Amino acid sequence: MASGKERTYYKAVRRAINAVISETSLKDKLTVIVRGTARSMKAGASLVLLNADRTKLVHSASWGLPRYYLQKGMPNADKSISEVATGRTVIIEDIKRDSRVQYRQMAAQAGIVSIIGTPIILNGLPIGSIRVYTKQPCECSRQDISFVSTMANLAGIAFKSYLEGQSEERVSALRQTQPVAFAHPSEEDFARILDFYNMEWVYEPRSFPLKWDGDRITEMFTPDFYLPNLDLYVELTTLKQSLVTDKNRKLRRLRELYPEIKITLLYKNDYNHLLAKYGFGPLAQSRAHGIKQILYSTVDIKNRIQKMAKQISKDYADRRPILVGLQRGFICFMADLMRQITVPLDLDFIAISYYTGTNDSVVKITKDMDLNIAGRHVIMVEDIVDTGITLNYILNHLKARKPASLAVCVLLNRRIRRIVDLPLDYIGFEIPDEFVVGYGLDYREEYRNLPFIAIPDIKRPPVKKRAQLKD
Ligand code: IMP
Ligand code: MG
Repeated sequence: MASGKERTYYKAVRRAINAVISETSLKDKLTVIVRGTARSMKAGASLVLLNADRTKLVHSASWGLPRYYLQKGMPNADKSISEVATGRTVIIEDIKRDSRVQYRQMAAQAGIVSIIGTPIILNGLPIGSIRVYTKQPCECSRQDISFVSTMANLAGIAFKSYLEGQSEERVSALRQTQPVAFAHPSEEDFARILDFYNMEWVYEPRSFPLKWDGDRITEMFTPDFYLPNLDLYVELTTLKQSLVTDKNRKLRRLRELYPEIKITLLYKNDYNHLLAKYGFGPLAQSRAHGIKQILYSTVDIKNRIQKMAKQISKDYADRRPILVGLQRGFICFMADLMRQITVPLDLDFIAISYYTGTNDSVVKITKDMDLNIAGRHVIMVEDIVDTGITLNYILNHLKARKPASLAVCVLLNRRIRRIVDLPLDYIGFEIPDEFVVGYGLDYREEYRNLPFIAIPDIKRPPVKKRAQLKD
């Protein structure tokens, strides 16, 4: 005979499965899962997701938790309780005595004693977790833990089937699950602009207490937006002078009380200046001319390259590599990458052109390397690998010169049309099946000087013709 608890868990799992296979929105499916988890365990529960560069955790569905706790701030992924880092269930028995809990005081005020965190895995990678907050010290049985992790697995399945139905692969899970009820049309405009430029945002992410009467908070301030990859809060204002004055006062107070917080106050049209500062937005329109959507912003690229360079510096700590670039698409990538690499290195180039015959196209080297690579450690640096034909040709050419080792570092990898499969050692971004330009990449020699990577507003060049594109 199943115990009462088992029956409760069974019901919650069954409801969650029904939600996952139903036609409802992803947000609704996740809500059923989180609510079922919370109610069955007689606790609060939330679903937190990693933002795209995996640095912050954001609450995106919750049940039975006070609003001030949800708006307490976004834990840093690497400092927070570490289920998302290790991919394993983590139990914090007493939050008061565990330094991994970043907002201990707030948690205590909400009556929370223990936290159980179980990762949500998508394609082998943790993307967030389900957290259960109990008011009694946790005496978790195996059964309890397996229940929470089953619910987390169901959340993973909901994400997977959601993303399979999406044409654009780089929609972050975070963006798709936010409840968006904007208080003001200008906020919605701002969110749309951020979406177009593929900047992640969180709406009304956090409330900052500003005034207290004893223990009671009597005044709070909730900025409109948080932009995780700039680590910046943004408050939009209407033009009404009376409101602006009050807001300015609150902002001054906030800066005094929370000096580590970066926050900007934007007057109605000011956000265009902010966007222009990062190389896009209506004020940078001449640069974005003919662009359908930005795939990776200047900031995204910078953050990613920093990580790749760090890894290369570590891997080549005691070897002096030769970086070999392929003209001309690599130019921005190489320039930024090599300045972030901290070990001594050498630099060389190869230039190629494609000769298109009647039946097939042949790659030909028009400028060879100047350095002798025999016995050296070579890193081939490429902008994008598509079919793999170009890279295959170049690697064979390099191997014939007998380097001690040969690695490949590419900024963009588009696997979908791969013909020659080659091992890639360092990959910047996996990109969807879209032709891309900018940051060195061209379409008929246009767009190379854009500071971001974007999908141009052109019909996709037919595959055959693409062979004629110069590198
Ligand atoms: P592959 O030989 O098919 O792998 O093609 C690699 C070369 O084609 C790259 O070095 C680029 O120069 C060019 N290429 C492939 N895809 C794109 C793209 O989306 N935008 C711009 N150039 C591209
Ligand atoms: Mg190239």
